[in-house]
Amino acid sequence: MTIRIPFNKPSIVGSELIYVGQAVAGGHASGDGPFTKRAEAMLEEHFDANRVLLTTSGTSALELAAFLCDLRPGNEVIVPSYTFVSTANAFVLRGARPVFVDIRPDTLNIDERLIEQAITPRTRAIFPVHYGGVGCEMDAIMDIANRHGLFVVEDAAHSLCARYKDRWLGTIGHLGCYSFHETKNVSCGEGGALVVNDPALESRAEILREKGTNRSQFMRGEIDKYSWVDVGSSYVLSDMLAAFLVGQIENMDKITRRRGEIFDLYSAMLAPLVERGLIRIPVVPQHCATSYHMFYILTGDTEERTALIAHLRASGILAVFHYVPLHSSPFAQSLGTPQTNLPMTDELSTRLLRLPMYFDLADWAVEEVASAVLDFYQPGAIAQSAGNANTNYLRRKASRIARKGAASGGIGAAAQPVDASGAS
Ligand SMILES: Cc1ncc(COP(=O)(O)O)c(C=O)c1O
Repeated sequence: MTIRIPFNKPSIVGSELIYVGQAVAGGHASGDGPFTKRAEAMLEEHFDANRVLLTTSGTSALELAAFLCDLRPGNEVIVPSYTFVSTANAFVLRGARPVFVDIRPDTLNIDERLIEQAITPRTRAIFPVHYGGVGCEMDAIMDIANRHGLFVVEDAAHSLCARYKDRWLGTIGHLGCYSFHETKNVSCGEGGALVVNDPALESRAEILREKGTNRSQFMRGEIDKYSWVDVGSSYVLSDMLAAFLVGQIENMDKITRRRGEIFDLYSAMLAPLVERGLIRIPVVPQHCATSYHMFYILTGDTEERTALIAHLRASGILAVFHYVPLHSSPFAQSLGTPQTNLPMTDELSTRLLRLPMYFDLADWAVEEVASAVLDFYQPGAIAQSAGNANTNYLRRKASRIARKGAASGGIGAAAQPVDASGAS
């Protein structure tokens, strides 16, 4: 079956291609050119951030952050196991060891109530991850970090334009890391940004990002030549990619709004399944504003998720699961990471399924995906959901499914019935 509705698709939302042309024509295609400065200034202004430095990826922003925390062999870093490998690799590269902490059952973010008991004399930093663009409990995390003298590096790869209380995610910890990978809300293919919230880290951040040299100072005319002054690497984004990014940053509110509409449409259409306890959808606490990075559902169990993926694929829809917990990976085990008891991580990671989500995803496609999910669980639910989402498309689809159901027992008749108690 060919995929008609992909999981993700990069979009042009504004003047990206014009700006790329200007970057090339302007003769500055390498890093730290005019578009890099423009993108950094726009992000600093919008998020009221002390300093933003574009990087080649979210991964390299995290690596820079680990450098800046001066992490070394023998140090421990507290991190959720339910995250992308880059969150941990960043400090494992410096010789520090991950100490995995379980996630909250509601937001799937690190459970701040479990952090303090994981702290040892070797602990040096906490790397919280705002999963799906919903904020971790940052007040509690910052309080713990301040009392124990720890760095906080926010992995805000999913969280551009998301808020925790009155603050933007990525600007709360000592350092924050954004990703502009093609799968993210705002993208330039591959890219990222380090947000340096602690001014004391600013000048070293510039140096580490520029191969350990003071070239940034030289470019500002503050010194007459630049030289090797520290360790470092090449983390500077090409100005051609920064140009593309400026076109996206100019439209980031529009992007977030559209993703919010998609999120709301999925939520409305799938409400009957949630009400019956068959699935769960993302929880956004009152005090958080999400970036709507993803729309996921939690199925009853892994077998149900596998069957649903196959059912969607048979309808030409690509839905994917997410992280395999890091603590269960062969590499984490080879590091001698203490055997960890992470029941929420183990359970929820096997039930989570991400539905297609991207700026250009049309309403009809969202409705088709949601209809296919409803259809998997219970053919009759589509009629009920049509009332919720109030669209003609749904009503037509509902009556078509009802006709088909009457004739054949329904497309979803072969699906396994789900024990509602399996869904939390
Ligand atoms: C939570 C998290 N952190 C970091 C990254 C790495 O970002 P990048 O792909 O830009 O290196 C990702 C990528 O998907 C991610 O999901």
